[in-house]
Amino acid sequence: MQKMWAGRSESATDKIADDFNSSIAVDQRMFREDIRGSMAHAAMLAAQGIISQEDADSIIDGLGGILQDLESGALKIDPAAEDIHMFVEQILTDRIGDTGKRVHTARSRNDQVAVDVRMYLRRESHEITVKLRKLLGVIAEQAEKNVDTIVPGYTHLQRAQPIRFAHHLLAYAMMFARDIDRIGDAVKRMNESPLGACALAGTTYPTDRGMVAKALGFDGVSRNSIDAVSDRDFCIELLSAYATVMMHLSRFSEEIILWTSWEFRFMELDDAYTTGSSIMPQKKNSDMAELVRGKTARVYGDLVAMLTIMKGLPLAYNKDLQEDKEMIFDALDTVKMCLDVFTPMLETARVNCDRMYRAAQEGFINATDVADYLVKKGVPFRTAYKITGQLVAQCIREGLVLEEVPIETYRAMHEAFDEDLYEEISLEACVEKRTSEGGTGRASVLEQIQYIKTLEEEQ
Ligand code: ARG
Repeated sequence: MQKMWAGRSESATDKIADDFNSSIAVDQRMFREDIRGSMAHAAMLAAQGIISQEDADSIIDGLGGILQDLESGALKIDPAAEDIHMFVEQILTDRIGDTGKRVHTARSRNDQVAVDVRMYLRRESHEITVKLRKLLGVIAEQAEKNVDTIVPGYTHLQRAQPIRFAHHLLAYAMMFARDIDRIGDAVKRMNESPLGACALAGTTYPTDRGMVAKALGFDGVSRNSIDAVSDRDFCIELLSAYATVMMHLSRFSEEIILWTSWEFRFMELDDAYTTGSSIMPQKKNSDMAELVRGKTARVYGDLVAMLTIMKGLPLAYNKDLQEDKEMIFDALDTVKMCLDVFTPMLETARVNCDRMYRAAQEGFINATDVADYLVKKGVPFRTAYKITGQLVAQCIREGLVLEEVPIETYRAMHEAFDEDLYEEISLEACVEKRTSEGGTGRASVLEQIQYIKTLEEEQ
């Protein structure tokens, strides 16, 4: 095949080499960014007197037509093209003639691709953020419904202390809130235009990089042209933020899988988000949650692959960098898909408050509160802790829970115990007494819901 860059080479490249080298299958999704970038570049070339206004108008017009035709499907991407940049330039030249060949003045594909990827990721990251806000809204909604749902809080997966289920859900909301922040941070740092760096060294033409940057919504231009074309930190930062989103979704999924098991039965997922078994008629599997957990692995893989691509690259551009898009696009597609399924799955999940309450009654979950009761009556904490431990051991021997132990037994252990103990160690009291900031007390939980709702509404 004859290449646009044919000149130095005497013969055509091998078909297998062409296929190997081509990235159009992956980078065609950046056609909008590529065209917008070229339009801004052409306008700048004219404003700076590098090409005529007439040529720029014709280029911009031609690019507008290509954009329209690609959007409508009237123009199909040629899978044999080398990449999206070559494809657009080729079509432009086919349509407007030799003038189209002027668009690549004072530019290289190295800065062109760097600008396209940044613009594309900026847009997609915004979409992910919108989806994360939606998830925050759903968590806040479920939390509101479950302010008074008491559930065991766990450490080491052992029942530890009773908490409001809302409080537990809100812990996840805080993680996703940080994710939104992290993505925003990465986008802010990424929002510098590399266009004008050209191949690596800058250009002899009197370009105005700031003008192009402004037209394309960048906050400024990259300061070093070599760095501009060879840096992929922004991919790594975003991949790391996406991997963290997945890690959070995966932890949440793991809990949902546990909660929906017959052993827990804390939660039931809507039929729309479960599957059956081909052999066992009783099964209702939490496949969506399992897949979210499973797909987390590939996003981690994308991050590690990207880091590995970069580790031995000499400056400046090397073709290895073409692989960046495979990783980052796979990661963002995966995150978006997972959020799209996870959010409605959580929204439609039914919480089994009775099962949660019963589980909270069973595990001596109020033992800390028995000890605290004694402490409030003047007993040193370590003594109170020991006495309570002995009481728990006795309960286990006799098949009782702490609320059922008669007052005489308590008093035999320590005379500070009184009838008011039972009130103090009720699950409701245990939860409500934890009024410290960020704790499981009602006021704190309501405040957390309010906070998450304000984030949900931000844009
Ligand atoms: N398709 C290439 C990429 O994605 C575009 C840049 C090509 N530059 C070059 N010097 N061959 O990285």
